[in-house]
Amino acid sequence: MKKLFLFVVVFICLQFNALAQWTTKSPMPTARTGLSTSAVNGKIYAIGGSLTALPSVTPTNIVEEYTPELESQAEQTTITILYDNTVYIPGTESKWGFACLIKVIEKTILFDTGWNSQILLGNIDFLGVNLDSLDQIVISHNHPDHTGGLDSVLGRKSEVSVYFGASYPAYFGQNILDKGATPILVDRPIEICEHVFSTGELLGAVNEQSLILDTEKGLVIITGCSHTGIVNILNEAKQIHNKNIYLVLGGFHLLNYSDAAVNQIIEEFRALGVEKCGATHCTGERQITLFKEAYGENYVPMGVGQVIQVSMITTDVIESDEGESQIPNRFKIDQNYPNPFNPSTTINYSVPKLSFVSIKTYDVLGSEVAALVNEEKVVGTYEINSKCGGETMSRPN
Ligand SMILES: [Fe+2]
Repeated sequence: MKKLFLFVVVFICLQFNALAQWTTKSPMPTARTGLSTSAVNGKIYAIGGSLTALPSVTPTNIVEEYTPELESQAEQTTITILYDNTVYIPGTESKWGFACLIKVIEKTILFDTGWNSQILLGNIDFLGVNLDSLDQIVISHNHPDHTGGLDSVLGRKSEVSVYFGASYPAYFGQNILDKGATPILVDRPIEICEHVFSTGELLGAVNEQSLILDTEKGLVIITGCSHTGIVNILNEAKQIHNKNIYLVLGGFHLLNYSDAAVNQIIEEFRALGVEKCGATHCTGERQITLFKEAYGENYVPMGVGQVIQVSMITTDVIESDEGESQIPNRFKIDQNYPNPFNPSTTINYSVPKLSFVSIKTYDVLGSEVAALVNEEKVVGTYEINSKCGGETMSRPN
Protein backbone atom coordinates (compact mmCIF):
# COMPACT_ATOMS: atom_id res chain seq x y z
CA MET A 1 0.00 0.00 0.00
CA LYS A 2 1.32 3.36 -0.96
CA LYS A 3 1.59 5.85 1.79
CA LEU A 4 2.48 9.45 1.40
CA PHE A 5 5.06 10.73 3.79
CA LEU A 6 5.29 14.30 4.95
CA PHE A 7 8.01 15.98 6.89
CA VAL A 8 6.80 19.42 7.47
CA VAL A 9 3.64 21.34 6.95
CA VAL A 10 1.76 20.38 3.88
CA PHE A 11 1.70 17.32 1.74
CA ILE A 12 3.16 15.41 -1.09
CA CYS A 13 0.84 14.56 -3.87
CA LEU A 14 1.39 11.67 -6.25
CA GLN A 15 4.99 11.65 -7.37
CA PHE A 16 5.71 15.17 -6.22
CA ASN A 17 7.57 16.53 -3.33
CA ALA A 18 5.79 19.65 -2.33
CA LEU A 19 6.21 23.13 -1.03
CA ALA A 20 3.33 24.90 0.59
CA GLN A 21 3.02 28.60 0.83
CA TRP A 22 0.73 30.89 2.70
CA THR A 23 -0.13 34.32 1.43
CA THR A 24 -2.33 37.24 2.28
CA LYS A 25 -2.79 40.60 0.64
CA SER A 26 -0.69 42.26 3.32
CA PRO A 27 2.79 43.29 2.21
CA MET A 28 5.23 41.11 4.08
CA PRO A 29 8.94 40.38 4.14
CA THR A 30 10.43 38.27 1.43
CA ALA A 31 10.52 34.64 2.34
CA ARG A 32 13.67 32.60 2.39
CA THR A 33 13.75 29.54 0.20
CA GLY A 34 15.89 28.00 -2.44
CA LEU A 35 12.95 27.58 -4.80
CA SER A 36 11.78 30.10 -7.30
CA THR A 37 8.41 30.56 -5.69
CA SER A 38 6.95 33.93 -4.92
CA ALA A 39 7.35 35.83 -1.67
CA VAL A 40 4.98 34.83 1.07
CA ASN A 41 3.41 36.35 4.08
CA GLY A 42 6.47 36.46 6.24
CA LYS A 43 6.41 32.73 6.59
CA ILE A 44 7.30 29.89 4.33
CA TYR A 45 6.73 26.27 4.99
CA ALA A 46 9.19 24.38 2.93
CA ILE A 47 8.91 20.65 2.91
CA GLY A 48 10.22 17.58 1.24
CA GLY A 49 9.49 13.90 1.23
CA SER A 50 8.90 10.82 -0.83
CA LEU A 51 6.45 8.04 -1.43
CA THR A 52 7.06 4.89 0.56
CA ALA A 53 6.72 3.11 -2.76
CA LEU A 54 10.04 4.62 -3.72
CA PRO A 55 13.13 2.56 -3.00
CA SER A 56 13.58 4.09 0.42
CA VAL A 57 11.44 5.90 2.92
CA THR A 58 14.36 8.21 3.50
CA PRO A 59 13.18 11.69 2.65
CA THR A 60 14.53 13.01 -0.60
CA ASN A 61 14.72 16.44 -2.09
CA ILE A 62 14.22 18.18 1.20
CA VAL A 63 14.14 21.81 0.33
CA GLU A 64 14.29 23.20 3.81
CA GLU A 65 13.05 21.43 6.87
CA TYR A 66 10.45 23.23 8.84
CA THR A 67 11.45 24.06 12.36
CA PRO A 68 9.98 26.41 14.95
CA GLU A 69 13.21 28.36 14.60
CA LEU A 70 12.46 28.98 10.93
CA GLU A 71 9.05 30.30 11.81
CA SER A 72 10.34 32.61 14.50
CA GLN A 73 12.94 34.00 12.11
CA ALA A 74 10.08 35.10 9.90
CA GLU A 75 8.64 37.02 12.82
CA GLN A 76 11.71 38.73 14.12
CA THR A 77 11.89 42.40 14.85
CA THR A 78 15.02 44.17 13.69
CA ILE A 79 16.39 47.36 15.18
CA THR A 80 18.96 49.10 12.97
CA ILE A 81 20.94 51.99 14.41
CA LEU A 82 20.97 54.76 11.77
CA TYR A 83 22.46 57.65 13.72
CA ASP A 84 24.65 57.55 16.79
CA ASN A 85 27.71 59.06 18.41
CA THR A 86 29.75 56.04 17.36
CA VAL A 87 30.20 53.89 14.27
CA TYR A 88 29.56 50.13 14.30
CA ILE A 89 29.79 49.40 10.58
CA PRO A 90 32.82 51.04 8.91
CA GLY A 91 31.74 53.41 6.14
CA THR A 92 28.86 54.88 8.11
CA GLU A 93 29.23 58.26 9.77
CA SER A 94 28.80 59.14 13.43
CA LYS A 95 27.78 62.40 15.06
CA TRP A 96 26.08 63.46 18.25
CA GLY A 97 22.46 62.30 18.07
CA PHE A 98 20.37 59.18 17.78
CA ALA A 99 18.03 57.43 15.34
CA CYS A 100 17.09 53.83 14.76
CA LEU A 101 14.76 51.93 12.43
CA ILE A 102 12.47 49.27 13.86
CA LYS A 103 10.89 46.64 11.62
CA VAL A 104 8.13 44.70 13.25
CA ILE A 105 5.89 42.12 11.60
CA GLU A 106 3.93 44.50 9.42
CA LYS A 107 5.29 47.97 10.19
CA THR A 108 8.44 50.02 9.83
CA ILE A 109 9.05 52.70 12.45
CA LEU A 110 11.77 55.36 12.62
CA PHE A 111 12.60 56.32 16.20
CA ASP A 112 14.23 59.78 16.23
CA THR A 113 16.02 61.31 13.27
CA GLY A 114 19.51 62.33 14.45
CA TRP A 115 20.82 65.88 14.16
CA ASN A 116 22.37 66.28 10.71
CA SER A 117 20.06 65.30 7.87
CA GLN A 118 22.90 64.68 5.39
CA ILE A 119 24.57 62.25 7.77
CA LEU A 120 21.26 60.51 8.48
CA LEU A 121 20.40 60.10 4.79
CA GLY A 122 23.99 59.10 4.04
CA ASN A 123 23.83 56.32 6.63
CA ILE A 124 20.39 55.26 5.37
CA ASP A 125 21.72 54.97 1.82
CA PHE A 126 24.97 53.30 2.86
CA LEU A 127 23.09 50.68 4.86
CA GLY A 128 20.64 50.08 1.99
CA VAL A 129 17.59 51.14 3.99
CA ASN A 130 14.57 51.91 1.81
CA LEU A 131 12.29 54.52 3.35
CA ASP A 132 9.44 53.60 0.98
CA SER A 133 8.24 51.09 3.54
CA LEU A 134 8.31 53.61 6.41
CA ASP A 135 4.95 53.80 8.19
CA GLN A 136 5.54 55.76 11.37
CA ILE A 137 8.04 58.11 12.97
CA VAL A 138 8.32 58.50 16.74
CA ILE A 139 10.20 61.49 18.15
CA SER A 140 11.48 60.95 21.69
CA HIS A 141 11.89 64.60 22.64
CA ASN A 142 12.16 68.02 21.10
CA HIS A 143 15.94 68.41 20.93
CA PRO A 144 17.76 68.97 17.63
CA ASP A 145 19.94 65.86 17.98
CA HIS A 146 16.71 63.82 17.69
CA THR A 147 14.60 65.99 15.39
CA GLY A 148 17.23 67.38 12.99
CA GLY A 149 16.65 64.85 10.21
CA LEU A 150 12.85 64.86 10.35
CA ASP A 151 12.25 67.21 7.42
CA SER A 152 14.64 65.33 5.15
CA VAL A 153 13.00 61.99 5.98
CA LEU A 154 9.55 63.47 5.29
CA GLY A 155 10.99 64.75 2.02
CA ARG A 156 11.60 61.15 1.01
CA LYS A 157 8.42 59.66 2.46
CA SER A 158 5.61 61.96 3.58
CA GLU A 159 2.77 59.41 3.87
CA VAL A 160 3.62 58.61 7.46
CA SER A 161 2.29 59.33 10.94
CA VAL A 162 4.62 61.26 13.26
CA TYR A 163 4.19 60.69 17.00
CA PHE A 164 5.54 63.44 19.23
CA GLY A 165 4.94 64.89 22.68
CA ALA A 166 1.76 66.81 23.32
CA SER A 167 3.81 69.53 25.03
CA TYR A 168 5.74 70.48 21.86
CA PRO A 169 5.06 73.96 20.45
CA ALA A 170 2.31 74.17 17.84
CA TYR A 171 4.70 74.90 14.98
CA PHE A 172 6.18 71.40 15.34
CA GLY A 173 2.89 69.76 14.38
CA GLN A 174 2.17 72.42 11.74
CA ASN A 175 5.49 71.67 10.04
CA ILE A 176 4.58 67.98 9.89
CA LEU A 177 1.22 68.87 8.36
CA ASP A 178 2.91 71.15 5.84
CA LYS A 179 5.16 68.27 4.78
CA GLY A 180 2.10 66.14 4.05
CA ALA A 181 2.46 63.81 7.03
CA THR A 182 0.03 63.16 9.88
CA PRO A 183 0.95 64.59 13.29
CA ILE A 184 -0.12 62.56 16.33
CA LEU A 185 0.28 64.12 19.76
CA VAL A 186 1.22 61.73 22.53
CA ASP A 187 0.55 62.50 26.16
CA ARG A 188 -0.22 59.09 27.66
CA PRO A 189 0.86 55.48 26.98
CA ILE A 190 -0.44 54.38 23.56
CA GLU A 191 -0.02 51.56 21.09
CA ILE A 192 1.96 52.67 18.04
CA CYS A 193 1.28 49.43 16.18
CA GLU A 194 0.97 45.76 17.06
CA HIS A 195 3.66 44.90 19.65
CA VAL A 196 5.00 48.49 19.81
CA PHE A 197 4.00 51.07 22.41
CA SER A 198 4.93 54.52 23.67
CA THR A 199 5.47 55.15 27.36
CA GLY A 200 3.56 58.36 26.75
CA GLU A 201 5.22 61.72 27.21
CA LEU A 202 6.81 61.55 30.64
CA LEU A 203 7.21 64.95 32.25
CA GLY A 204 10.49 66.34 33.59
CA ALA A 205 13.06 69.02 32.91
CA VAL A 206 12.74 67.79 29.30
CA ASN A 207 9.57 65.89 28.46
CA GLU A 208 10.25 62.64 26.66
CA GLN A 209 8.64 59.45 25.39
CA SER A 210 10.33 56.09 24.93
CA LEU A 211 9.38 53.03 22.87
CA ILE A 212 8.38 49.67 24.31
CA LEU A 213 8.48 46.55 22.14
CA ASP A 214 6.54 43.58 23.47
CA THR A 215 8.63 40.62 22.33
CA GLU A 216 8.76 36.90 22.90
CA LYS A 217 11.63 37.38 25.37
CA GLY A 218 10.17 40.32 27.25
CA LEU A 219 10.06 44.07 26.87
CA VAL A 220 12.59 45.87 24.70
CA ILE A 221 12.83 49.53 25.68
CA ILE A 222 14.37 52.10 23.35
CA THR A 223 15.22 55.53 24.71
CA GLY A 224 16.34 58.75 23.05
CA CYS A 225 18.09 60.59 25.89
CA SER A 226 16.26 59.42 29.05
CA HIS A 227 15.95 63.00 30.30
CA THR A 228 13.22 61.87 32.67
CA GLY A 229 15.59 59.28 34.18
CA ILE A 230 16.38 55.88 32.73
CA VAL A 231 15.23 54.03 35.85
CA ASN A 232 11.99 56.04 35.92
CA ILE A 233 11.36 55.05 32.30
CA LEU A 234 11.95 51.36 33.06
CA ASN A 235 9.64 51.51 36.05
CA GLU A 236 7.00 53.18 33.93
CA ALA A 237 7.29 50.54 31.19
CA LYS A 238 7.08 47.74 33.71
CA GLN A 239 4.07 49.30 35.35
CA ILE A 240 2.27 49.61 32.01
CA HIS A 241 3.00 46.11 30.74
CA ASN A 242 3.79 44.08 33.86
CA LYS A 243 6.40 41.98 32.05
CA ASN A 244 10.09 41.27 32.39
CA ILE A 245 12.51 43.65 30.71
CA TYR A 246 14.69 41.84 28.19
CA LEU A 247 16.70 44.65 26.62
CA VAL A 248 17.21 48.39 27.15
CA LEU A 249 19.04 50.43 24.55
CA GLY A 250 19.58 54.08 23.63
CA GLY A 251 20.82 57.18 25.41
CA PHE A 252 20.79 56.99 29.22
CA HIS A 253 21.98 60.58 29.79
CA LEU A 254 24.52 59.87 32.53
CA LEU A 255 27.32 62.15 31.32
CA ASN A 256 28.02 63.79 34.67
CA TYR A 257 27.35 60.77 36.84
CA SER A 258 30.12 59.41 39.05
CA ASP A 259 31.13 55.76 38.92
CA ALA A 260 29.28 55.18 42.18
CA ALA A 261 26.13 56.78 40.82
CA VAL A 262 26.29 54.74 37.60
CA ASN A 263 26.90 51.54 39.56
CA GLN A 264 23.84 52.36 41.63
CA ILE A 265 21.79 52.62 38.41
CA ILE A 266 23.23 49.32 37.20
CA GLU A 267 22.09 47.78 40.50
CA GLU A 268 18.62 49.15 39.83
CA PHE A 269 18.73 47.61 36.35
CA ARG A 270 19.52 44.28 38.02
CA ALA A 271 16.73 44.72 40.54
CA LEU A 272 14.32 45.39 37.67
CA GLY A 273 15.50 42.21 35.95
CA VAL A 274 17.02 43.89 32.87
CA GLU A 275 18.70 41.02 31.03
CA LYS A 276 20.64 42.93 28.36
CA CYS A 277 21.50 46.53 27.64
CA GLY A 278 23.16 48.75 25.06
CA ALA A 279 24.06 52.22 26.30
CA THR A 280 25.00 54.88 23.77
CA HIS A 281 24.69 58.50 22.62
CA CYS A 282 24.41 60.78 25.68
CA THR A 283 25.27 58.07 28.21
CA GLY A 284 28.93 59.14 28.38
CA GLU A 285 32.05 57.13 27.47
CA ARG A 286 33.13 56.23 30.99
CA GLN A 287 29.55 55.46 31.94
CA ILE A 288 29.14 53.18 28.89
CA THR A 289 32.29 51.32 29.94
CA LEU A 290 30.76 50.62 33.34
CA PHE A 291 27.64 49.14 31.71
CA LYS A 292 29.84 47.04 29.40
CA GLU A 293 31.83 45.67 32.32
CA ALA A 294 28.74 44.98 34.40
CA TYR A 295 26.77 43.24 31.65
CA GLY A 296 29.64 41.38 29.99
CA GLU A 297 28.33 39.16 27.21
CA ASN A 298 24.84 40.55 27.82
CA TYR A 299 26.02 43.99 26.78
CA VAL A 300 24.88 44.85 23.23
CA PRO A 301 27.42 47.00 21.37
CA MET A 302 25.85 50.05 19.77
CA GLY A 303 26.82 52.36 16.91
CA VAL A 304 25.64 53.20 13.40
CA GLY A 305 24.93 50.05 11.40
CA GLN A 306 24.37 47.75 14.35
CA VAL A 307 21.34 45.49 13.75
CA ILE A 308 19.62 43.86 16.72
CA GLN A 309 17.11 41.06 16.20
CA VAL A 310 14.47 39.99 18.69
CA SER A 311 11.74 37.39 18.19
CA MET A 312 8.21 38.66 18.48
CA ILE A 313 5.47 36.96 20.43
CA THR A 314 4.56 33.63 18.86
CA THR A 315 1.61 32.68 21.00
CA ASP A 316 -0.75 30.76 18.77
CA VAL A 317 -4.14 31.65 20.13
CA ILE A 318 -5.78 33.82 22.73
CA GLU A 319 -7.00 31.78 25.65
CA SER A 320 -10.33 32.54 27.24
CA ASP A 321 -10.82 32.46 31.00
CA GLU A 322 -12.01 28.89 30.61
CA GLY A 323 -8.82 28.03 28.74
CA GLU A 324 -10.62 27.37 25.46
CA SER A 325 -9.12 28.53 22.19
CA GLN A 326 -10.95 31.55 20.85
CA ILE A 327 -9.70 34.03 18.29
CA PRO A 328 -6.38 33.35 16.56
CA ASN A 329 -4.00 36.26 16.90
CA ARG A 330 -1.67 35.36 14.04
CA PHE A 331 -1.50 33.45 10.78
CA LYS A 332 -0.66 29.84 11.40
CA ILE A 333 -0.62 26.58 9.46
CA ASP A 334 -0.22 23.28 11.30
CA GLN A 335 1.53 20.04 10.52
CA ASN A 336 -0.79 17.79 8.55
CA TYR A 337 -2.19 14.64 10.15
CA PRO A 338 -2.13 11.72 9.80
CA ASN A 339 1.35 11.65 8.47
CA PRO A 340 2.24 9.43 6.62
CA PHE A 341 -1.22 9.22 5.06
CA ASN A 342 -3.27 7.21 2.63
CA PRO A 343 -5.46 8.30 1.04
CA SER A 344 -6.25 11.58 2.80
CA THR A 345 -4.77 13.96 5.31
CA THR A 346 -5.90 17.00 7.27
CA ILE A 347 -4.32 20.44 7.63
CA ASN A 348 -5.47 23.09 10.08
CA TYR A 349 -4.77 26.78 9.68
CA SER A 350 -5.75 30.00 11.44
CA VAL A 351 -6.61 33.46 10.14
CA PRO A 352 -6.45 36.38 12.64
CA LYS A 353 -8.16 38.95 10.39
CA LEU A 354 -10.16 39.07 7.17
CA SER A 355 -7.58 38.08 4.58
CA PHE A 356 -7.14 36.58 1.17
CA VAL A 357 -5.66 33.17 1.85
CA SER A 358 -3.81 31.06 -0.65
CA ILE A 359 -2.41 27.64 0.23
CA LYS A 360 -0.86 25.77 -2.66
CA THR A 361 1.41 22.86 -3.26
CA TYR A 362 4.33 22.99 -5.63
CA ASP A 363 6.65 20.43 -7.09
CA VAL A 364 10.36 20.74 -6.56
CA LEU A 365 10.66 22.76 -9.77
CA GLY A 366 8.32 25.37 -8.37
CA SER A 367 5.37 24.41 -10.59
CA GLU A 368 1.99 24.59 -8.96
CA VAL A 369 0.41 21.20 -8.27
CA ALA A 370 -2.81 22.13 -6.53
CA ALA A 371 -4.53 25.13 -4.97
CA LEU A 372 -6.02 23.97 -1.70
CA VAL A 373 -7.36 27.37 -0.68
CA ASN A 374 -7.53 30.49 -2.80
CA GLU A 375 -10.15 32.86 -1.46
CA GLU A 376 -10.96 35.43 1.18
CA LYS A 377 -11.38 34.01 4.67
CA VAL A 378 -12.92 35.54 7.74
CA VAL A 379 -11.29 35.25 11.17
CA GLY A 380 -11.19 31.68 12.39
CA THR A 381 -9.46 28.33 12.49
CA TYR A 382 -9.96 26.15 9.43
CA GLU A 383 -9.48 22.54 8.49
CA ILE A 384 -8.61 21.20 5.05
CA ASN A 385 -9.24 17.57 4.22
CA SER A 386 -7.20 16.63 1.23
CA LYS A 387 -6.94 13.45 -0.78
CA CYS A 388 -4.07 12.51 -2.97
CA GLY A 389 -4.96 14.11 -6.26
CA GLY A 390 -5.89 17.47 -4.88
CA GLU A 391 -9.50 16.98 -3.77
CA THR A 392 -9.95 19.46 -0.98
CA MET A 393 -12.43 20.83 1.41
CA SER A 394 -11.94 23.77 3.72
CA ARG A 395 -14.27 24.38 6.61
CA PRO A 396 -14.09 26.53 9.74
CA ASN A 397 -13.73 24.71 13.03
FE1 LIG B 1 20.13 63.53 22.74
